[in-house]
Amino acid sequence: MNKKYYITTPIYYPSGNWHLGHCYTTVSCDALARFKRLQGYDVYYLTGTDEHGQKIEERAKAKGMQPKEFVDSLVEDIKKLWELLDINYTKFIRTTDADHEKAVGKIFSKLYEKGDIYKSSYEGWYCTPCESYWTQSQLVDGKCPDCGRDVQITKEDSYFFRLSKYQDRLIGLLTKTDFLQPKSRVNEMVNNFLKPGLTDLSVSRTSFKWGVPVPFDPDHVIYVWIDALSNYITALGYTSENDEDFKTYWPADLHMMAKEIIRFHSIIWPAVLMALDVPLPKKVFGHGWLLFGGDKMSKSKGNVVDPFILVDRYGLDAVRYYLLSALPYGMDGTYTNETFINKINTDLCNTLGNLVSRTIAMTEQYFDSVIPAPVKKTEQDDFIVQAIKDIYGKVNQMVEDLEINKAVEEIIKLTEYANKYIDETAPWKLAKEPENKDRLSTVMYNLCECIRTTAVVLQPFLTRTPEKIFEQLGITKDNLKAFESAGTFPEDLIGSNVHKTEILFPRLNLQKELDELSKL
Ligand code: ME8
Ligand code: MG
Repeated sequence: MNKKYYITTPIYYPSGNWHLGHCYTTVSCDALARFKRLQGYDVYYLTGTDEHGQKIEERAKAKGMQPKEFVDSLVEDIKKLWELLDINYTKFIRTTDADHEKAVGKIFSKLYEKGDIYKSSYEGWYCTPCESYWTQSQLVDGKCPDCGRDVQITKEDSYFFRLSKYQDRLIGLLTKTDFLQPKSRVNEMVNNFLKPGLTDLSVSRTSFKWGVPVPFDPDHVIYVWIDALSNYITALGYTSENDEDFKTYWPADLHMMAKEIIRFHSIIWPAVLMALDVPLPKKVFGHGWLLFGGDKMSKSKGNVVDPFILVDRYGLDAVRYYLLSALPYGMDGTYTNETFINKINTDLCNTLGNLVSRTIAMTEQYFDSVIPAPVKKTEQDDFIVQAIKDIYGKVNQMVEDLEINKAVEEIIKLTEYANKYIDETAPWKLAKEPENKDRLSTVMYNLCECIRTTAVVLQPFLTRTPEKIFEQLGITKDNLKAFESAGTFPEDLIGSNVHKTEILFPRLNLQKELDELSKL
């Protein structure tokens, strides 16, 4: 039996336009899932939508729609987006799925029976958009500390989850293990939330209807975060008769998200699992934000870049590459049309694309399109040969450390070295000197192996380009595409028939593109 790998994105709120920020997390998880699949893991990749709550109820009403009708159309859109981006998920969960709703009711009842949920009443400052209660001291200038909007004093009966009971175990989890990453987020969670003391969490609402009712008290709707977080186990069949996937894939290897929801995933979620006696996920990773003109790209602010436009104009792999390299580990990054175009030009067109087209063209010209054997090696080859041999190991370590931007950049660096190797070895000179035919063979073989290896390791990240490179190299055999073959300088590459096809990444005129994009 293969080793398993279970990875999740947040389930997104279907409340407006889907934008590049959502694409960031989903493409990153897709790359990680593909990476593990290529390593032979049995991978389960979960994504989906978080569809309940007052906000969605109100938005639907404003449009004169039923909530379900409203979310259905948005879910259709996001599924199209994931198709556009070649997202290879295992399951798409909706919190309105009947089996999810049923399981959430069972989870709530189980927690109630255990005494970890109890009924009381709640009075506090309520933020409707965030569906959160705040105490007077938590308010910032009298406004919601999360979103800065107005709050209303509200009192209602509510069920409470005994979060306080898990305080010590949570502190241990966060400070003594690698559960929460990057490490830099741990202090924030511990000092701001855990050390000041956890209060029990209100986990039901009576102020709206659009949600899963408390099974034994249907005036109450289960708080959206309990509903939402549970998706990671209900998707696998937790509490149902058909819980094979739960047995196989839980605990999750990685919950990925951006930093604003780390608190829910590193405090509330593990506490709920502790209460349920379910093993904890292995890792929660909170990446930074993709900023757009300084602000977090968000639906409410309206500063959203349309992924459909970018993919249509520049191709899928340009967008995937941009996203995967956009955020340094755990930090924010800023999207501008200019940085996007420049990144494609520099890394994909001038470096990767250029290397492939030079290598194929020279093999065609000097060896009648047949990849030659490496017959005369010299010290001049040492650096590039070593770099080719090392690339898979390096990328693997970076992926393991969730340094995704470094991993893709490391691959581009390899192609940069190869371009330098061409300049240093000057194949066009060797070609004029019959006595150097053997040197030329070696140089061309090394270059072909370099672009083959590049294509091999690029497969999890870019979903179209590697196949195009294999095609140009005349590679059809799967063994030459497998991860294990990276940097092995295989004999069966020799004799392969290369042929030029379309240009991988046409050079973009920055000013022209900026003008065009600003018109859209
Ligand atoms: O929070 N940069 O849903 P949500 C990077 N339903 N990532 C971004 C981003 C940006 N500018 N904008 C969005 C919710 N994201 C809850 C989650 S999970 C049990 C429930 C990504 O629609 C990022 O992953 O607000 C972020 O955490 C998530 O979308 C928030 O999605
Ligand atoms: Mg949000």
